[in-house]
Amino acid sequence: TPVVASSIAECRRLVAEARWKGQPIGLVPTMGALHDGHVRLMEACRSRCGFLVASIFVNPTQFAPGEDYQRYPRTPDEDHRRCAEAGVDLIFEPTAEEMYPGGSSGTFVEVPGLSSVLEGRSRPTHFRGVTTVVAKLFNIVRPDLAAFGLKDYQQLAVIRRMVLDLDFPLELLPVPIVREPDGLAMSSRNRYLSAEQRRAALVLRRALEEAEEAVVGGERSADRVRQILADRIESEALVALDYAEVADAATLEPLAELPDASGAGPGGVALVAARV
Ligand code: PAJ
Repeated sequence: TPVVASSIAECRRLVAEARWKGQPIGLVPTMGALHDGHVRLMEACRSRCGFLVASIFVNPTQFAPGEDYQRYPRTPDEDHRRCAEAGVDLIFEPTAEEMYPGGSSGTFVEVPGLSSVLEGRSRPTHFRGVTTVVAKLFNIVRPDLAAFGLKDYQQLAVIRRMVLDLDFPLELLPVPIVREPDGLAMSSRNRYLSAEQRRAALVLRRALEEAEEAVVGGERSADRVRQILADRIESEALVALDYAEVADAATLEPLAELPDASGAGPGGVALVAARV
């Protein structure tokens, strides 16, 4: 069973021991309410490192006032069980006071460009909170490898940019989206959905599949693909579209035309967000 550290000092001490033994350190940052998507990240990281750290911290700085910070699901016992099963060696589970003494941070890490588009348009302070807490976690754990899910594609792009720009000495491990049997991407927030809303949410997956079919069938116009995504999502009355974008996979800048199927040049990525 994993050791649980709630203080930064204790976490550092335990990781230092492992590092001293020459074990490569892996880190999977999470906000808890763990599901099979999180577990996949842990397994992917586990196979590449000798000592696996999972952090569980509902990070207040990435929630805006009025968002769900207070009611974000917290399931510590179940989380510990899942971490044990996934082969986690150390759970770092700090309090908000431990991470932000006095209740706030005097310093922020910002990736301005990438953080202001797409998700950042409706949540302007979100990624600043993410990059700040992830930078702190990187400095506390000093991992050699850190896993992030492709479900939050922009989050990974923002963190990739931060790692590059600030020379964090680690490798990022992207992990594919893990879905429920019916196609809904796993998310700690899925439990907010009623049965009817949950069914309606499947439209996101369907829209992405239709877009993929069109691209595989030769569609090269990004606007056509955006239209396919938007039309499908807007066909569902319980779902309000936030954005449906086709963007450069690295810069997240909107594309006019999709790259050639030959695979030459930068890839494109379809990104959608909606409120159910
Ligand atoms: P959280 O939503 O708990 O997600 C933790 C990690 O699990 C993220 O890298 C996320 O992309 C990944 N993940 C979640 N659901 C997934 C799924 N269905 N398939 C694949 N990966 C999935 O993302 C955060 O927490 C926070 O912003 C954090 C990075 C921990 C910073 O506070």
